[in-house]
Amino acid sequence: MKIGRGAAIVAQQFHTTELTGKNILITLGASVEAIDPVRYISNHSSGKMGMALVNNCIELGAQVTCIYAKIQTELNQRASNIQALSAKKMHKAVMENIAEQDIFISCAAVADFSPENIAKDKIKKNADDLKLILKPNPDILQDVCKLTKKPLTIGFAAETKNPLENAQIKLKNKGCDVIILNDVSGADFGLNVDENEVTFLSQNYQQKIAKTSKQKIAKKILEIFIRKFL
Ligand code: C5P
Repeated sequence: MKIGRGAAIVAQQFHTTELTGKNILITLGASVEAIDPVRYISNHSSGKMGMALVNNCIELGAQVTCIYAKIQTELNQRASNIQALSAKKMHKAVMENIAEQDIFISCAAVADFSPENIAKDKIKKNADDLKLILKPNPDILQDVCKLTKKPLTIGFAAETKNPLENAQIKLKNKGCDVIILNDVSGADFGLNVDENEVTFLSQNYQQKIAKTSKQKIAKKILEIFIRKFL
């Protein structure tokens, strides 16, 4: 039997997809750690990989909460968007929103350290060296993985040296279900570019996803994740 175009569109709208009914929290972007009112420590992450995951999760029917730091990409208005620039603010925002989540995707490039004190006024130039004392930030992903009611967790690892080995260690130490390894030793893919090449890594599964657009990488990551975990 042939169905008309109108009926096909209606059918598509009622089609339940793989992530329908799932709540997914995604962090993305580069954290910003203030030094004084005008200066900060940050990194080259654009938030594009995380936003591609937001978009694809929404397409698959999920309810998405997007907690974002500094990004160079458009927000998806169909997500619930919360800005949290520093690691500490992001930690607070994640913990306040994690209870109802089925899946946590930790895509943000979070600074491991932040200045112990933020100068109230702009730091003046003088003849002496300027010494900044940096203190460790909370590890958001690790803390989520320690929760008694832990959601399924996907972390990211941007590595420049011994990528596979380091990603395996990260999978174990953070206690997450999946690590997406991003080899950023080359300049062509990884941070602040539109294409990427990653490896999906879980305790007993490994799959390389060849170089392609971040939208397609996100689609593939979710495809593997759904097949293996849901
Ligand atoms: O330890 P590393 O920073 O390489 O780990 C990267 C992973 O951990 C990413 O998924 C990142 O979002 C997450 N992370 C975090 N909180 C931090 C540092 C990293 O959630 N303070």
